[in-house]
Amino acid sequence: MLVGAYYYPEHWPREQWERDIGNIAKMGFDFTHFGEFAWAFMEPEEGKYDFGWLDEAVEIASKNGLKVIMCTPTPTPPAWMAEKYPEILLTNTDGRIIRHGTRQHISWSSTKYREFTEKIVTKLAERYGQDERIWGWQIDNEPSHYGLKEDYGDAAQVRFRQWLKDKYQTIERLNDVWGTKFWSEVYSNFDQVRIPNEKELVLFVNPHAMLDFKRFTASECASFVSLQYNILRKSILKEQWITTNFMAIYDAVDPKLNDDLDFITWTKYPVEGFNQGIGEQGFRRGLPYDVGFGNDFFRPLKGKTAAMELQISQVCWGEYNPRMYPGARRLLLYHVFAGGNSFVCSYRFRQPTFNYEQNIIGMVGTDGVTPSDGGEEYMAFIKEMKTLQDNRPKATKKPESYFKRKSAVIWSFDNIWATDYQKHTTQWSYRNHHAGYYNILKSFGCPVDIIRDCDDFSAYSVLVAPAQELINTELIDKFSKYVKNGGHLVLTCRSGAKDQNGHYWEAKRAEPIWELIGAEIEFFDNLPGNCWANVRFGKQDFKWNVWADVLSPHKDTAVLATYVDQFYQGKAAVVSHKYGKGSVTYIGVETSGNGLERAVLKHIYNQAKIPIEDYPNGVIVDWRDGFWVAMNYSSEPFEVAIPKSAEILIGQKTLKAADVVVWSE
Ligand code: GAL
Repeated sequence: MLVGAYYYPEHWPREQWERDIGNIAKMGFDFTHFGEFAWAFMEPEEGKYDFGWLDEAVEIASKNGLKVIMCTPTPTPPAWMAEKYPEILLTNTDGRIIRHGTRQHISWSSTKYREFTEKIVTKLAERYGQDERIWGWQIDNEPSHYGLKEDYGDAAQVRFRQWLKDKYQTIERLNDVWGTKFWSEVYSNFDQVRIPNEKELVLFVNPHAMLDFKRFTASECASFVSLQYNILRKSILKEQWITTNFMAIYDAVDPKLNDDLDFITWTKYPVEGFNQGIGEQGFRRGLPYDVGFGNDFFRPLKGKTAAMELQISQVCWGEYNPRMYPGARRLLLYHVFAGGNSFVCSYRFRQPTFNYEQNIIGMVGTDGVTPSDGGEEYMAFIKEMKTLQDNRPKATKKPESYFKRKSAVIWSFDNIWATDYQKHTTQWSYRNHHAGYYNILKSFGCPVDIIRDCDDFSAYSVLVAPAQELINTELIDKFSKYVKNGGHLVLTCRSGAKDQNGHYWEAKRAEPIWELIGAEIEFFDNLPGNCWANVRFGKQDFKWNVWADVLSPHKDTAVLATYVDQFYQGKAAVVSHKYGKGSVTYIGVETSGNGLERAVLKHIYNQAKIPIEDYPNGVIVDWRDGFWVAMNYSSEPFEVAIPKSAEILIGQKTLKAADVVVWSE
């Protein structure tokens, strides 16, 4: 796995470039990364391009043996563009135009902005597309609008209407799907439709319109990225790859829509004061879920991924920005390695002395030369990567029991958008619900892919589909086939209630999945935040208050857990039945800390005779290319069971907080 660092030649005096880029190479990095925010320097005046400075930077990198990732600068247009063509700017929900002064303030829907994008990308492709010093390309940077998420400007209104016309063909069809009979919302033509926006309505936005707007926004982002991909791919060397770096994970864009890219990379900063981590000082290490999600969400998209940004040290935009735990970035780096990434890059080599991110520590500090705490750990890690490279096992036989438990969790943007908009309880979070299941599978030591419902399920012994509220009959059939062929399917609360448009079935609640799950779903319940109820599995009680589906099992269905209290005491909460060669389990309840979910999943693997481990919270063990990697995010020491015959290549078997051990068998 190669390691790189971002460098911004445009931020530093020309006299320092040789020194800085030379130091990037001396510290052991394999590559650098240029240009994603440099449009003002590439096109200082409309139509006047200047790449001379970038040529020099590329040459210095190459002389130092560094590969270069070249970026398109489309998150940051020059000031002249906004001044002369304000239609390129994003508009927020209040109708306020977002001005020049930071980044990602542009409208993906603006024809003018797309024209300028085409021109700059074409120029870059002409300049560097045949240049062997360029390793690959990054389109834009973290395609998103950050906190603003969506665009409500005129261009977006026009393209939204067109998107709806393409989708529905007739206004009658749109009226049907949006249920506009309700409150006389009925439209007589597409021109009457506006982007659903709470800020311009008295109250309550039509949820079907909202769902389409979310889908539209994701598709605008994807088409903006594809526009650039197509220009580049037409003219650059075939050896140069093209990617973009999506945030892991940002819920307004959908990386899967950019399947056209050669592979898709991701960015992550796990230590930013938004979570407590695990155990004492855990807030300095982050959660294993963070890098884990990056690995397991992005790798299945194209069968290959890389981390384009990984935290080096303190950032500036967290709730609070603690110093990282000694060893924490090495921990994150090994997690990236273990997750199968082909490279890792980090923002950024030099800490800026000015502007908004001046408090973000780089590989070197404000003097431009002294390695930071993070820089030191990166250097050590790079050396260790070389050790692993030299000790690469010749024959890499895949460990049988590890791959036997290969599992997947479905991620669904439709369901995150639909259920998070109509939460039904303020405590609902699709993401937390999903994370709970993912974490359980990792604690069993499973290799996990986070996949989509359109993907092939056949490689997974267990498939968890959390909160699939929106479902269609094809998917129900696909689930049935998977199970009949021997798969073990886990569906969870809220599932099956609505169709793909977010309409309830004209049937009993979730009736289309009753046969599949071997039970009826009588009704559901939510409790106030300060009120808890219990659900019993075996002899153990678990607390819940977010969601409870109350079930009534069919004849041959086993009841695994029941509600202990409330007026439906004794009714089923979790049911399971054999179906074809496999099984279906329905977990209708979300419990505090996901204790019941863990116990039920353990039962499923045991019943199916799939071997699993039982790692404590915070310990992750993954296998890659013949290397076993065990990592400890928690504060408790953990002794890894390493076979006597194995060779320990890095570290030792007792893992202290933030420790890593690597061995081969
Ligand atoms: C990333 C972003 C970088 C930089 C970094 C700081 O999300 O892509 O440009 O802002 O955060 O933490």
